[in-house]
Amino acid sequence: MMEKAGVHGIQLDFFYFPELMAENKFNERFVTLLKTLISECSVPIMPKLSRNFPEIYISKLLKKAGVKYVSLLDSIKVPKPEGADLTGKSLSVFGNWMFNLTRQYTYVLSNEGFQVCAGGGVVSEKEASELIRLGANTIHLATEVLLNGYKRFSAIESKLEENLSYKEAGYSGNRIITFNAEKCIGCGKCMEQSFCNVIKTFMATGDNTSCEGCGLCSQLCEGGALKMLKKE
Ligand SMILES: Cc1cc2nc3c(=O)[nH]c(=O)nc-3n(C[C@H](O)[C@H](O)[C@H](O)COP(=O)(O)O)c2cc1C
Repeated sequence: MMEKAGVHGIQLDFFYFPELMAENKFNERFVTLLKTLISECSVPIMPKLSRNFPEIYISKLLKKAGVKYVSLLDSIKVPKPEGADLTGKSLSVFGNWMFNLTRQYTYVLSNEGFQVCAGGGVVSEKEASELIRLGANTIHLATEVLLNGYKRFSAIESKLEENLSYKEAGYSGNRIITFNAEKCIGCGKCMEQSFCNVIKTFMATGDNTSCEGCGLCSQLCEGGALKMLKKE
């Protein structure tokens, strides 16, 4: 019915099945469901992932089923706080804090070869461009638009190109990472979250010669100690 109505793709929302993976024969049933949908629909089938589906585990099942597209990342279900005047047993939480999870899912799933529609904690062009650099094909915004209106789509999109191309310093090849030890607050994000081996070598030995200038580590740097500079 949705195909006939003209949709370009179908997103599958598993949010209301909190303990899916604990269901009897989950793996087989999940793969069968997805295979059936893919074989019977001509438009892309795009499961929406959440913390209920650990990224590496689910990536194997999605591949087995022939899925090519995924959407990230659904809000996180928590038990209803005691005394809260709410219907239902659980509460759905989201916000910029979940961006670290989105970053991790985007990195793993795009590296595994999926086309990724990434979101979850995106509030500005900074997060959007970081996800694109990690391999996202499209970006998804929910809370930011609910809070600040549809104009946020065009505002973020208009700044995205500049953010991605680094006009001020020239993107990849023209610039290189530098480190100012006085500004380092020891947060460790450059080592833990940038997924880049060059930064690990650089922090250990001072050798930045393999730096390709993507700028991801400098965006993660809390104290402003890592900066991209034009190559001499
Ligand atoms: C009011 C509200 C309703 C939502 N409804 C859905 C939904 O029906 N299906 C779905 O897949 N995600 C739904 N989401 C989750 C969002 O699509 C998104 O994955 C999540 O909020 C994280 O992204 P954000 O940080 O941009 O909000 C909803 C989120 C909000 C705030």
